[in-house]
Amino acid sequence: MSFHDKFDDLKLLKPVIFTGKEVLLLDQTKLPETEKYLKLKNCGEVAKAIKTMKVRGGGAIMLAAVYGLALSAINSKGNLKILKKDAEILKNTRPTAAALSQAIDFILRIAEKSSNVAEDVQQAANWLFKKTVEMEIKVGENGSKLFEGGDKVLTHCNAGALAAAGYGGVTLSVFRKCREKGKKIKVFVTETRPYLQGARLTLWELKKFGFDAVLITDNAVGYCMQKGMIDKVLVGADRIAANGDVANKVGTYLIALAAKKHKIPFYVSGTIDPKTKTGDEIKIEIRSPEEVLIFNGKRIAPKNIEVFYPAFDITPHEYVTAIITKDGVFKPPYNFGG
Ligand code: MRU
Repeated sequence: MSFHDKFDDLKLLKPVIFTGKEVLLLDQTKLPETEKYLKLKNCGEVAKAIKTMKVRGGGAIMLAAVYGLALSAINSKGNLKILKKDAEILKNTRPTAAALSQAIDFILRIAEKSSNVAEDVQQAANWLFKKTVEMEIKVGENGSKLFEGGDKVLTHCNAGALAAAGYGGVTLSVFRKCREKGKKIKVFVTETRPYLQGARLTLWELKKFGFDAVLITDNAVGYCMQKGMIDKVLVGADRIAANGDVANKVGTYLIALAAKKHKIPFYVSGTIDPKTKTGDEIKIEIRSPEEVLIFNGKRIAPKNIEVFYPAFDITPHEYVTAIITKDGVFKPPYNFGG
């Protein structure tokens, strides 16, 4: 039985698998049409896959990266200098998500003390995988307490199974736990331009688990709230600062503003970064204009225009009704600084 088979009872969607020789990534750019795994043999290939969104979502990129480091340690026969260089490359692929850099630093600390780097890095990566699954289940359990049967819940981007180890991330896990408790939830999903994580990925996984779901365009959020179609919002977070400010997929802030206006609870679940005091300190990833300009292989705007494409935004803590973590549900005032 391989390490990943141990989780079979949990029905993981398996965005990231490590075979001991290769990192297998479910190619998220091909979903929902094609369910195909990329087979990556070295850390450079993993870094490229993260950068080009073959794997994406805070938890999943973290796991891909730590297994990328396992390949680096194996291929270099435990060479620390190479491991550190690869760690730096991986950290720079997607700067906003807290879990990625936290996990890479954790692996490096273990490698520095190790007498068998290749073996210990693999073990540490597997440990992080197990911890991620446990976190998803706990977040699901804690978050499910905030929802009632019949709730219509809006979510943005994909912070579900494909954005973590595969149980349900920090959103689908909540819906799975609600179902276990007999609470029927209907999920409204924004399409999430330009990568369409909502339309392609969140709906793919919600359908896999048979949830009632509706796709809306990003700019229909205000309309749906105004018409009383949304009871609660649940979004993931790539990084939550000590004061409760939230970095998540661009558009999250606008949803929070609209939720406040309509007195709709706005819930966030994700990774806390106690070292980041406020949202001002969070580095926002600016991605390539091509991702906005090209749709389905076709250019959609005139040539020679300026494009500004921040991939994330910051929602100030005053818009956040509660923060869900593996340790519980936190209400304002937030202070995760320790
Ligand atoms: O650019 P992406 O697709 O990696 O962005 C992902 C998100 O914004 C998710 O909502 C986020 O990773 C939350 S997962 C804890």
